[in-house]
Amino acid sequence: MKRILITGACGQLGSELTAELRNIHGNNQVIATDVSEPNSLMGEGPFEYLDVLDNRRTEAIIDQYNIETIYHLAALLSATAEKNIHTAWDLNMGGLLKILELAKEKSLKKIFWPSSIAVFGPDAPKIRTPQTAACNPATVYGISKLAGEQWCAYYYNKFGVDVRSLRYPGLIGYKSLPGGGTTDYAVDIFHKAVRGEEFICFLKKDTALPMMYMADAVKATIDLMQAPAESITIRTSYNISAISFSPGEVTTAIQNDIPEFKIRYEPDHRQQIADSWPMSIDDTPARADWGWEPSYNLQSMTDDILRELPLFWKLDTA
Ligand code: SER
Repeated sequence: MKRILITGACGQLGSELTAELRNIHGNNQVIATDVSEPNSLMGEGPFEYLDVLDNRRTEAIIDQYNIETIYHLAALLSATAEKNIHTAWDLNMGGLLKILELAKEKSLKKIFWPSSIAVFGPDAPKIRTPQTAACNPATVYGISKLAGEQWCAYYYNKFGVDVRSLRYPGLIGYKSLPGGGTTDYAVDIFHKAVRGEEFICFLKKDTALPMMYMADAVKATIDLMQAPAESITIRTSYNISAISFSPGEVTTAIQNDIPEFKIRYEPDHRQQIADSWPMSIDDTPARADWGWEPSYNLQSMTDDILRELPLFWKLDTA
């Protein structure tokens, strides 16, 4: 029986994607790996400690479990990467290259690898940034994602490795804590809101960024991986879009449900990262090629998080 391997399975996206893949394919078919302890979010099923830079161990796990598909998510996010530029490059790039090479050698069926809106830099159009806009990233995270996209296309064109990728916007979920991204203020803000605390925001009030609710991100990933190979016309990485909002706008959405919620703005070094990114994304090719369509807007996402987060974390909000 062929199985699925996930690297970075303890991360924000990894844990929810692992849980959904286990729902679809069965718990034992999905092998979660990470350098952190497994969490309950990802459901029951096999877990292996794996540093993706350890090629021998990666290969051993692929062989042991008869892996056919890999979701390679292990990486440092933008703000953490800016503080550890060489570690970020080594992990984000080295990890991908090792996985692509193993996929080629072992003729694996499919690889998923996440790219990001961070491939765009200050010279790309800010509004509805098109798929083919100039990619001159201003962050080491963006540089690693752009180079990674090119490696994916190279391995596809040269060696026929069926590697697929999405340029995720900021992913907003309530089940995991923020993971070092610039867009992660929009995760943290909900935790403060339901606890009745003031939120100190590291971005300015009007800094709009492309965002997506985790449920949509998981759906987009699975839809892309299930699409027939011939419908995938972009082998670097697809723009995908759902919502675009600023700290001021998400605050208004929260205040619709929790009128007493308060926010204060204290922009830091992450403002510069956000300023280099698009404000919204045009995702026409993803919609045309494999039928991408998001389900959540800002208010429906906010309502869902404010309802579910206290239950999930068993908070006493009475
Ligand atoms: N959410 C990511 C970050 O902020 C962007 O891809 O690092």
